[in-house]
Amino acid sequence: MCGITGYLGFREAYPIVINGLQRLEYRGYDSAGIVITSNDKSKLFKTKGKVSDLKKIAKKNNLEGNLALGHTRWATHGVPNNENSHPHLSNSGNLVIVHNGIIENYDTIKKELIKRGYTFHSDTDTEVLINLIEEVQIKNNCKLGKAVQLALTNVVGAYAIAVYDINKSDEIIVARLGSPLAIGIGKNNTEFFVASDASPFIEYTKDAIYLDDEELAIVKLGKKIRVRKIHDDSIVEPNIQELKLNLEQIEKGGYDHFMLKEIYEQPSAIFDTFRGRLLADKGIIKMGSVDNNITKFLNAKRIIIVACGTSWHAGLVGEYLLEDLSRIPVEVEYASEFRYRNPIINKDDIVIAISQSGETADTLAAIKLAKSKGAFVFGICNVVGSSIARETNSGAYTHAGPEIGVASTKAFTTQITVLALIALKLGKLKGEISTSDFHKYLQEMKLIPSKVEELLKVNHEVEKIALTYKDAPNCLYLGRGYNFPVALEGALKLKEISYIHAEGYPAAEMKHGPIALIDESMPVIVIATKKGHYEKVVSNIQEIKSRNGKIIAIVTEGDTIVKKIADHVIEIPETEEAFAPLLTTIPLQLLSYYIAVMRGCNVDQPRNLAKSVTVE
Ligand code: AGP
Repeated sequence: MCGITGYLGFREAYPIVINGLQRLEYRGYDSAGIVITSNDKSKLFKTKGKVSDLKKIAKKNNLEGNLALGHTRWATHGVPNNENSHPHLSNSGNLVIVHNGIIENYDTIKKELIKRGYTFHSDTDTEVLINLIEEVQIKNNCKLGKAVQLALTNVVGAYAIAVYDINKSDEIIVARLGSPLAIGIGKNNTEFFVASDASPFIEYTKDAIYLDDEELAIVKLGKKIRVRKIHDDSIVEPNIQELKLNLEQIEKGGYDHFMLKEIYEQPSAIFDTFRGRLLADKGIIKMGSVDNNITKFLNAKRIIIVACGTSWHAGLVGEYLLEDLSRIPVEVEYASEFRYRNPIINKDDIVIAISQSGETADTLAAIKLAKSKGAFVFGICNVVGSSIARETNSGAYTHAGPEIGVASTKAFTTQITVLALIALKLGKLKGEISTSDFHKYLQEMKLIPSKVEELLKVNHEVEKIALTYKDAPNCLYLGRGYNFPVALEGALKLKEISYIHAEGYPAAEMKHGPIALIDESMPVIVIATKKGHYEKVVSNIQEIKSRNGKIIAIVTEGDTIVKKIADHVIEIPETEEAFAPLLTTIPLQLLSYYIAVMRGCNVDQPRNLAKSVTVE
């Protein structure tokens, strides 16, 4: 997720665009850039780092002009460095672009453009796009708006783009598919603002157009905005609306907290994580970093997963996935323990390091130790170019976008998504999964984003339960099999943002001690999905009931048995048990969120916690 913004009008563009970038930094902050044009003279500055670093460079150069585009990057293709930062110029130097999204077929387009003599200075998909637009404009001898429209009909992926010709400084072309794009309209069309959301221009105008998917707009000084459909260039009547949100609400996408916004981003985050990797209709899982090391993976005698916190819980789910589906022995280690216990690592071991931030000190140290002992280390990170991403021998990124809330939510479900893809791919290649089962899993995985979307509608039900238990002094979370790590994760969520003591246990472990805790003041969250050792968990629920425990059960929709015993039931859509954690964790995230809000806790920045623990 990146932030784009631009200005065209009578004011000085620089202060508007640079302040706009600062407001968009929540969308990505590993590099930033700006291009500004005045009387057809242009200046372009871009740098790895934050917008504040860009400001330092810009201050030394007198950036004047009434037309500018800015970009703050969340890297998806190409590590964060100056060359990969936006804006990007076309080969002629005439066209300039800023882009938020992922062009899936950029490699094919790039190869074709290279054949036609184009050269590239970066590893990004965006630079390919601006040169495709230039090639189309030259070949068709057409206006920029038309060239953008024609070029986008050849593009597969997601984009919100802003493009202009530095020789025609009275026009910006914008377009979107899958990534948001807002256009602020000044009085009498004397100025225009374009941005990923309205935060850069909210104080200048309340009149805005939010482009719909597959729409392109030609923004020209003094003229009404023209909106067209990309696929057939047909005219669309723009829907100009009056903005009601304030700045803070806009940054949070209208949600009260980043954590809630990120919980609701999970359908798209999971989709973006398997986009281009899960080719369900072709029966293929495409993962270059696994394919390029496939001998290592297939010959691995053991996989050791190292991580911390929520990522460690994702690793536990990974253990179930990899052992169940690809029959490779797995051990999951707290990175902080692994790094100091002089572990035995054999040459055909594979170490998988999981980290949202890619900067966790213990995990980084564990990786270095594993590499020093000859292991091949594979990373699963959410931040492109992070220390862990660079330290590992290879890896696969989650594409969750920036996770701002300290409590990890979408990182957890996207980490599990990557682990599931790896387990399925290896299981199929090792002949541990039949072709029919493989196809069944792939088709089910494709449905997960919509099932999560559907499940998020339980939020008001969960909010009511939260009201009942917000003052509980303790809480117990129980799960079996794939859902045992989800019980641990649910407990972590609650304790880290509401400060209520909570523990997660394998459900069967309850009788070995924790059952002594059960009484009427102890809420017990039990995950009882239909295919997950259901009968055993039902008897655990009955044991709790007989001791007056309060039961909040997460069940598969249509459940009739648990409904008769539990105090509260939250139904989730049916899915393969291997994918259950992607769904069962959702109500637990919401429960901890609402309880924390009701307790007046700082949900996005809980006390004593940091988003990334870069020290021991
Ligand atoms: C989880 O909600 C916490 N924020 C924390 O446990 C976190 O998962 C842990 O610090 C690991 O962070 P990482 O994924 O960035 O390595």
